[in-house]
Amino acid sequence: LSLRPTPSLSNASYSQTVELADIEWDNLGFGLQPTDYMYIMKCQQGGTFSKGELKRFGNIELNPSAGVLNYGQGLFEGLKAYRKEDGNILLFRPEENALRLQMGAERMCMPFPTVDQFVQSVKDTVLANKRWIPPTGKGSLYIRPLLMGSGPVLGLAPAPEYTFLIYVSPVGNYFKEGLAPINLIIENELHRATPGGTGGVKTIGNYAAVLKAQSAAKAKGYSDVLYLDCVHKKYLEEVSSCNIFVVKGNNISTPAIKGTILPGITRKSIIDVARNQGFQVEERQVSVDELLDADEVFCTGTAVVVSPVGSVTYHGKRVSYGEGIGAVSQQLYNTLTRLQMGLTEDVMNWTLEL
Ligand code: COI
Repeated sequence: LSLRPTPSLSNASYSQTVELADIEWDNLGFGLQPTDYMYIMKCQQGGTFSKGELKRFGNIELNPSAGVLNYGQGLFEGLKAYRKEDGNILLFRPEENALRLQMGAERMCMPFPTVDQFVQSVKDTVLANKRWIPPTGKGSLYIRPLLMGSGPVLGLAPAPEYTFLIYVSPVGNYFKEGLAPINLIIENELHRATPGGTGGVKTIGNYAAVLKAQSAAKAKGYSDVLYLDCVHKKYLEEVSSCNIFVVKGNNISTPAIKGTILPGITRKSIIDVARNQGFQVEERQVSVDELLDADEVFCTGTAVVVSPVGSVTYHGKRVSYGEGIGAVSQQLYNTLTRLQMGLTEDVMNWTLEL
């Protein structure tokens, strides 16, 4: 993989179409806004990652036979940086992303950066793009680390060279609904993951695999798709880009991590926050029947944060959970986001201040 000197003509027109001064901070959605720098670090198969560097953000070149292009040997991560009221910057649990990337790299036969390398390169990239971090309360800087087989292969095998890359983009709400409840449809035919497969790691192919069902759902007016387990077709797995929680009284349940569900960092954080607030939280098999009988349902993820679910449609039957965001979802959302933005004391020691 080699990089064009930047700004080249093509990415100058791309990355500079919207400049900082033109950004509508009150209207940030979840689309790519090119920023100033990206981070690149490389490693040969059998070697270790050593020194990476910041480069101007722009297109990258890959050999047509790169492992990631031909055989999907790639992983991604997602985390966010927030601007505090005092101007300092907070990262939320970056070492958790480093550990999850390492777990995924093992599964995908890829070398990986150390936790320190990961966290340091995230810090460097965020600081280099500091001016793109939205003002407090207007959004965050989404950080997208990638790990990919960048070396050429033709026969099926791990690539001979790997690239770790980080780029960032200012973002607001993931769903156009914002904090208004989203409407999900349960998918009965297509599955996101299978036992023994790669559903439990953040490999790029998991996300390509949900596009068909997601597109069909969106065309029918739904916000997204909820997937079921592929064996019994009656237990919840996750939504295309986030985990799911079901609230009944003081009990909050979420599907257990058993290889087919992504171990979300927001999921893990919400479980701890809810337990601290006195909820009984269970990680287990959660059936569709329980979902349809719930008081409240919400999704969690780095991109979606905590998103309330307003309705679920199953075999043509729509079950609604009420108009606005439910009280439990709102309470958990408030606690988490206040912590992430540095508005409450970080007793969990989850944030890293830059
Ligand atoms: C994230 O929440 O960071 C994700 O990886 C979801 C992605 C599909 C936007």
